[in-house]
Amino acid sequence: MNRVRHDGVLVVGAGLAGLSAALEAARAGARVLVVTPEPLLSGCSSAWAQGGMAAALTAADSPVLHARDTEAAGAGLVEAEAARALTDRGRETVEWLAALGAPFDRDADGGFVVSLEAAHSVARVARVGGDGAGRAILSAVVTAVRAEKAIEVWEDARLTGLLQDETGRVVGAAVGRGGAGRRLEIVARAVVLATGGAGGLYAATTTPGALKGEGMALAALAGAEILDPEFVQFHPTAMDVGLDPAPLATEALRGEGARLIDGAGRFLLGQAADADLKPRDVVARAVHAARMQGRGAFLDARAAVGEAFPHEFPAVFAACLRSGLDPRVSPIPVMAACHYHMGGIAAEVDGRTSLAGLYAVGECAATGVHGANRLASNSLLEAAAFGRGAGRAAAAQTGGGRPRPAPRLADLPEAALAELRAAMTDHVGVVRDAAGLSGVLALIDRLEAENGPAAPLIAARLVVQAALDRRESRGGHYRSDYPETAAEARRTRVRLTQPEMLA
Ligand code: SIN
Repeated sequence: MNRVRHDGVLVVGAGLAGLSAALEAARAGARVLVVTPEPLLSGCSSAWAQGGMAAALTAADSPVLHARDTEAAGAGLVEAEAARALTDRGRETVEWLAALGAPFDRDADGGFVVSLEAAHSVARVARVGGDGAGRAILSAVVTAVRAEKAIEVWEDARLTGLLQDETGRVVGAAVGRGGAGRRLEIVARAVVLATGGAGGLYAATTTPGALKGEGMALAALAGAEILDPEFVQFHPTAMDVGLDPAPLATEALRGEGARLIDGAGRFLLGQAADADLKPRDVVARAVHAARMQGRGAFLDARAAVGEAFPHEFPAVFAACLRSGLDPRVSPIPVMAACHYHMGGIAAEVDGRTSLAGLYAVGECAATGVHGANRLASNSLLEAAAFGRGAGRAAAAQTGGGRPRPAPRLADLPEAALAELRAAMTDHVGVVRDAAGLSGVLALIDRLEAENGPAAPLIAARLVVQAALDRRESRGGHYRSDYPETAAEARRTRVRLTQPEMLA
């Protein structure tokens, strides 16, 4: 296998977290190589984010209040210090992005336009171009990255493994390049994983299907600690229009007064004006229950948005029209779908993981800021704020010893992946129980026996085993056989050895 020596920082993934890390590492004086399997601006969840970036930006708000809401949403598992580290950086992060050219919506006085989303006690989600926040913010960062001479970007390289020296320190990564999957080993002074979430493990997802928890799986295989992998967030208003992935109908629509109704026009969560802005897990379960009972679930934005749809929510409007639906005159059919992985590679707020030389940022990381249920629109803030810190920390690393060969994993054939995704949605989704979870573990055993160890199977096993072991309901993890929340909030920490993972 060919080996490339890169004496700088290797960033794997090119969403907002990865590119923020790359920019700051370069500005701290390091050479940076970013590897990503698809052209910049495609294939990452950041570009799909609609709502915006949560940050305390108004007189009615403060980092303390933002941290309090973050903790309340997280159902006992938010690390208070991490939440404050995040919310304290809200304004500076928005201003950093605005200075890079992110066109945040402004009011007549030049202030940031903010909207209300579920479980926020005040309006604090900074919007960009109506519902196009993620793409607009990321575009500005991409432009800055392209202008930075110290950053090189490979847009055809898929992560296949992590390289470690004899001490276990991470000293690089193995990638497959190009259509033929030419394998290369890249040796670097530090590796920043920004590989996104695991929505592609689910048949119903709002995220790019290619993201199947590979970063988490490969980090686990290298011996990194994994935190709370069972906590997956399901978005209650994915459009049920037969598309994979499912287009999102942003929560900001409910912030504007759109209502959730069943097929007979009855409110799903009651009449109160703010009933549909309950925490995301509560709303997701109500949508799921209505569908299971055959009542259907719809988002009715006719009165609240109506004719303003094309300019207020252009992305949702376009997705509706593509599906032959006009949301100005018809309610949008919705379902709960996998949207965000709260668990992942255990990481500090500067991205440090339990393995020397390895950093994790964005959705693949679990820093403790999201706990059991992420507060809406905190993820873009986390990606940029903690991504920047990780870039600086990684730039200060000096590298390690000679790499050992990375273990080689199998590819999962399409049919096997489809079987896994269907089982994950049916049994590891909004409502879980022991029988369903055990059945999915048996399926993973079979698929592994038939195909060999593949990253999506390792990632799915981490999620499912932890969901089976957590005999309570908390945040995004709901067990119909253990519906109560335990008095003590306990974290799941998993650290596996390679032989266990590959068994
Ligand atoms: C949304 O716009 O509804 C999603 C926002 C988020 O998941 O943070």
